[in-house]
Amino acid sequence: APVVTIAVDGPSGSGKSSVSRAVATRLGLAYLDTGAMYRAATLWCVRSGVPLEDAGAVAAAVVAMPLEMGVDPSAPTVVLAGDDVAEAIRTTDVSSVVSQVATNLDVRAELRRRQRAVIETEAVGGFSGGRGVVAEGRDITTVVAPDADARVLLTASEEARLRRRSLEVHGAADADAVEATKDQVLRRDRDDATVSQFLVAADGVATVDSSDLDFDQTVEAVLAVVEHVT
Ligand code: C5P
Repeated sequence: APVVTIAVDGPSGSGKSSVSRAVATRLGLAYLDTGAMYRAATLWCVRSGVPLEDAGAVAAAVVAMPLEMGVDPSAPTVVLAGDDVAEAIRTTDVSSVVSQVATNLDVRAELRRRQRAVIETEAVGGFSGGRGVVAEGRDITTVVAPDADARVLLTASEEARLRRRSLEVHGAADADAVEATKDQVLRRDRDDATVSQFLVAADGVATVDSSDLDFDQTVEAVLAVVEHVT
């Protein structure tokens, strides 16, 4: 089979992580969660005592960051200095400040370089044995892998995204839980929009709106895009 690179972008709560993992599993591809890399970079700075306001120090810390991304879609891992940080990077402590690190252009250049290295490795070997990778984030379709074989923007209405995030974070989607999630999600989307435009599909990028689709239907819709272009 030919090497396949699939790029998936979308805002938080669009379901892009779980959908991308399922697509990678179905096609026997590796899975790269680039948001986890920005989260790990943030945790690394916090743990190293680097003030997030100091852009130069943040960039230097991220260039030296010992991060290993495990790209098996059935068990992706994030290992920072030998420490499994999969849970630590999902805490509010990290989520509330990750945009500050992600808007640092030197940080973006460094992580983009590492993301492309994973994509290149998977094209010739790696976890997938040269089958390829599904890479997911905010700027994969536009900046990291604009020449990917399939490019998908996964969107969902604000209401659907808040409901999903609320379920994820609070285990509930009643009015109070949704309200508690709202500020954080919308603020992060707005901050993120300053670095990359991920709410509108770029030229040649297929849009999949998951607002009225369940999980399996969303996976099928992304697979249909992949089939159409590969
Ligand atoms: O996808 P996730 O919510 O885990 O991403 C965490 C943060 O990482 C985003 O809010 C954004 O600031 C940053 N990010 C980015 N570019 C990417 C992926 C994530 O700036 N490709």
